[in-house]
Amino acid sequence: MTAGSANASANSTDDSEPLLPGLIGRSPAMQDVYRITRQVAPTSATVLLTGETGSGKELIAKALHELSRRATGPFIRVNCGALSESLLESELFGHVRGAFTSAHENRTGRFEAAHGGTIFLDEINSVSYTLQVKLLRVLQEQEFERVGDTKTIRVDCRVVAATNRDLVDEIETGRFRDDLYYRLNVVPIYLPPLRERTSDVPLLVEFFLRKYAETNRRPLPQIQPEVLELLQKYEWPGNVRELQNYIERALVFASDNMLTPDLFPPHVRGVAEARLAKSKYRSYEMMCRDLVQMALYGSSETDNLHERIVSTIERELIQQVLKTSGGTQTKAAMRLGINRNTLHKKMTELGLDAN
Ligand SMILES: Nc1ncnc2c1ncn2[C@@H]1O[C@H](COP(=O)(O)OP(=O)(O)OP(=O)(O)O)[C@@H](O)[C@H]1O
Ligand SMILES: [Mg+2]
Repeated sequence: MTAGSANASANSTDDSEPLLPGLIGRSPAMQDVYRITRQVAPTSATVLLTGETGSGKELIAKALHELSRRATGPFIRVNCGALSESLLESELFGHVRGAFTSAHENRTGRFEAAHGGTIFLDEINSVSYTLQVKLLRVLQEQEFERVGDTKTIRVDCRVVAATNRDLVDEIETGRFRDDLYYRLNVVPIYLPPLRERTSDVPLLVEFFLRKYAETNRRPLPQIQPEVLELLQKYEWPGNVRELQNYIERALVFASDNMLTPDLFPPHVRGVAEARLAKSKYRSYEMMCRDLVQMALYGSSETDNLHERIVSTIERELIQQVLKTSGGTQTKAAMRLGINRNTLHKKMTELGLDAN
């Protein structure tokens, strides 16, 4: 009997209850993840989360916090990939007034903010080599200085880090320090890709359907069995996030309260080559084509077709660019080639959270 199946029988009282808060899926591979998460959560051990994009690393980071003695303390996430080296340094450690030209005030860093709680260092592979030295010291000694200051600050926070790059490869190419890697990798947790746990697909589909039916105040649609079959065959390069997005879109265009195969993009249905977009423009192009197809063939409603397609595409585009810009609107506006006020206005119109 595997550890996973042992857990399954111990927890098999209610199949709709998540085994870990916020996490859906009961495959043996995920049960191993839940078991390690529960074991390590109450300790102070540093955890390194690895796994492909969209596989649930951030959810596990939050669960580690919520299941720890620090749960009443803060959970602070820092996206290390979203900031330049100097901005990240002052974000993490804080700075004193006058430390650099734009440092008009003293500022506390995220490590101080995480005192008594958990700091989640996301995309740790993006941290520069120099800053890695400073991080190593915090991990080893729990102390650091604010940028421009000599006073040493001590903090008590649990470190959870995540990477979607293989850090061993990064060490080999000289981009990541091996001493920091060993210090971070005290307890590694690997999130398996969705294609390796297809038994979780039906549960995830149902979970997201319920979620989006509720937010859109629509009745819960029926699922045609062929839908589950094709979704279990697909490769899911974007993992659970990709599944979540397709379910949300399918629900938008579903008619007769029924989830049918034609509501999913051709490459998911296996009728078009499953290409991974080479550039972000290509992926947007594909996304637009998929959406238009869905609107034309997937829905009997043709009212306001143009408006519906345009706003759906615009919404998806802005959400994705904001995400890859670490939530910074100025950066996202630059990437989109529009001005910041226009972006803000569009976000308000589309009901996207302006924070
Ligand atoms: N097992 C799961 N159950 C429910 N939702 C999930 C699960 N795994 C992932 N998700 C959802 O999928 C999305 C992506 O998950 P998450 O942000 O944790 O992935 P990630 O591994 O951090 O991805 P990235 O490397 O791109 O940052 C989120 O909306 C999350 O809520
Ligand atoms: Mg993440």
